[in-house]
Amino acid sequence: MVDVEIRELMQPFVLSDYQVQEVYSRFCLEIAKGLRRTTHEQASTKCFPTYVQDLPTGDEMGKYLALDLGGTNFRVLLVTLKGHHEATVESQIYAVPKDLMVGPGVELFDHIAECLAKFVAKHDMHNAYLPLGFTFSFPCIQMGLREAKLTRWTKGFNCPGVEGEDVGLMLHDAIQRRGDAEIAVVALLNDTTGTLMSCAHRNPDCRVGVIVGTGCNACYVEHVDNVDLLDTEFKRIQKQVIVNVEWGAFGDHGQLEFVRTDYDREVDRKSINRSEQLFEKMTSGMYLGELVRLVLLRALERNKIFKLNTKRAAFVAVLQKNVDIFETKYISEVEADSFPEFPNTRRIVKQLFGVEKATVEDCQKLKYICECVTKRAATFVAIGISGLINKIIDRRVVVGIDGSVYRYHPKFDGYIREMMQKLVKPGKEFDIMLSEDGSGRGAALVAAVASKTK
Ligand code: BGC
Repeated sequence: MVDVEIRELMQPFVLSDYQVQEVYSRFCLEIAKGLRRTTHEQASTKCFPTYVQDLPTGDEMGKYLALDLGGTNFRVLLVTLKGHHEATVESQIYAVPKDLMVGPGVELFDHIAECLAKFVAKHDMHNAYLPLGFTFSFPCIQMGLREAKLTRWTKGFNCPGVEGEDVGLMLHDAIQRRGDAEIAVVALLNDTTGTLMSCAHRNPDCRVGVIVGTGCNACYVEHVDNVDLLDTEFKRIQKQVIVNVEWGAFGDHGQLEFVRTDYDREVDRKSINRSEQLFEKMTSGMYLGELVRLVLLRALERNKIFKLNTKRAAFVAVLQKNVDIFETKYISEVEADSFPEFPNTRRIVKQLFGVEKATVEDCQKLKYICECVTKRAATFVAIGISGLINKIIDRRVVVGIDGSVYRYHPKFDGYIREMMQKLVKPGKEFDIMLSEDGSGRGAALVAAVASKTK
């Protein structure tokens, strides 16, 4: 049990039942606003129709290229869909240099086209005609399956000249400029859509796709009658469409002020997209570690942790100077630690701050700090997922999830499920499945569906 001082410090992160219910109601209201044409402008969750209307059957066949841009890495993939719910994936990871993340958009797309050309050459596919699915994981208004205008950059990207532009066209132009490969961009999708498609390929009950990684977002299958923004011609044959909620922006119009803490405001102040993506800044891997750094710093300054440690002053100095020094992956490691050895926690505080032989009490306190920050994130994610499940008409709903926080944190899945038990309506049944390479396999499936539709 950690002492009362640390519990007091973390109190703002512990949501009461009332707060959970209130966030839930506000979230549902925002979704309703996002879907309706008359209120769409005011909604923080934009609920963009994706134009993906066919879920996979499992019989899809063929070779597809896929691109995945949206997190810390950029990937090129060759996906072979084999029917019988089977697929194989070969992929290559390329770094996105930091300067490209904020440099001119054209240079970013030229870099992507160059990596693509190298990949095609390596796999000896110059002469093959290859359809490509582009997983571009930023908020976009889709005008069709392969046309999408970026509305705003998120997650540390900020390349001028892309917002408001059709990113499918920008990629197409970059490929044309090189002129060394026969590649057709046939589909543009969000990573949440890829996740949903990839999971639906395995499990036909999948209706929700969620990412809790560098960023945080979800999509779900909605009845076309509820999606005002979808043109009528898309409502005639198919009765469903995947909606990209873009819930990372929930709270951007003030809905979360009653639960945001000083630490959240500080994280936002230092970010390159101030006042934007406020829900994302409380739930995703890009920010959770930074929240822990700020809390730890406050705890040290108020003499609530590492009280007797001789390295205290140096510890504080390192924390003050180095924004982002406490990476989100350390949260997973700390929370995986066992009492009373705490091998990970001791290694991390030694490596980062030069603190030797942290006491059991200090390790417990740090673990508690990490736990409160993560539990709050998981609670918010569970609120969002439950809101979507309760909206979907099917009685049984499977949720596909991916992203580094969900995948690598030892308890995130458990925290989400616990909260969902409380929020999902009685009579509904849900399950969560880990997605297998949504951005690759999912992109190929959307490309396959696009080719079929054509
Ligand atoms: C983007 C979403 C994306 C999510 C997860 C957010 O920052 O706005 O489009 O799905 O990150 O990658």
